[in-house]
Amino acid sequence: MLVQQSSALKAEILRLKKEKDVVILAHNYQIPDVQDVADFTGDSLGLSRKASTVSQKTILFCGVNFMAETAAIISPEKKVLIPDLEAGCSLSDSITVDELRNWKKQHPNAIAVGYVNTTAEIKAELDYCCTSSNAVNVVKAISVDKEILFLPDMFLGSYVAKMTGRKNMYIWAGECHVHAGITPEDVTKKLNSLNDAEFVIHPECGCTTPMMYDVADGSYDTKKVSILSTEGMLNHVKESKAKNFVVATETGILYRMKKDNPDKTFIPASEKAECQYMKMITLEKVYNALINEKNVITVPKKIADKARLAIDRMLAIS
Ligand code: 13P
Ligand code: SF4
Repeated sequence: MLVQQSSALKAEILRLKKEKDVVILAHNYQIPDVQDVADFTGDSLGLSRKASTVSQKTILFCGVNFMAETAAIISPEKKVLIPDLEAGCSLSDSITVDELRNWKKQHPNAIAVGYVNTTAEIKAELDYCCTSSNAVNVVKAISVDKEILFLPDMFLGSYVAKMTGRKNMYIWAGECHVHAGITPEDVTKKLNSLNDAEFVIHPECGCTTPMMYDVADGSYDTKKVSILSTEGMLNHVKESKAKNFVVATETGILYRMKKDNPDKTFIPASEKAECQYMKMITLEKVYNALINEKNVITVPKKIADKARLAIDRMLAIS
């Protein structure tokens, strides 16, 4: 889109959202144009919290389906719109309700902890929900003698097991294709090209598990490696005295990192780490969603009421 066209569209979106009393929430992986028209940009946990406190009656959620569903579950009295109903998530697709029910049957006394990257139906089967920024605290809050079923991300699960020292935790073998594709080789290459760089990794990454062992055995200076949620990364790079960073997550995060820290350098661990679902949300679709108010996300009350329990337990801990 031409710059002039995009500025005119942005101005129209800003006018419409005010006129219609709509709040726009955008995930940190959204394209720059979409982040520019958002009232709040953040990680899954931050946006869930925001959804529950904003005064507007309508939320236009620029992110993927499970995020908009979470907002609809938390705020059932609000209208939640998404610019593209097809914006899914490979991680949330990696477990079905039947699979989870069978797994629970095999471990009838276990506590089910599920990542926020799951469908509403899955959340309704959970005891606790968690996000990348609070998964460790959620697991720590569960009595050590209780078995835990952790789903669906195996890299986040291994990270949490390592951080909590938990031995009675079963981990579902799901993954996000974007983060799983960031390999230790990608990371090593980038770190070697920039000697003094700090390294920030999202716990969904395929490189997380081997990197944790490298950190543990002293191959890396632990002070220079941080495993964080997207918002955690943004806070960390702002506060750090370092000037150069290698960033292992979806590349959309670099826009805000660079904007907030113009004097620092950010290099993606892998340029290929792009989520096609997040990138389905365009300025035109945001505009259409505002005009038509059509793509409404609804969750059946019975499912939403059960799912809300797991989300509320998470929000009470973190
Ligand atoms: P967070 O923004 O919560 O860290 O999650 C990352 C993610 O992959 C969302 O799809
Ligand atoms: Fe899902 Fe991965 Fe995309 Fe996040 S980056 S929305 S986990 S597919």
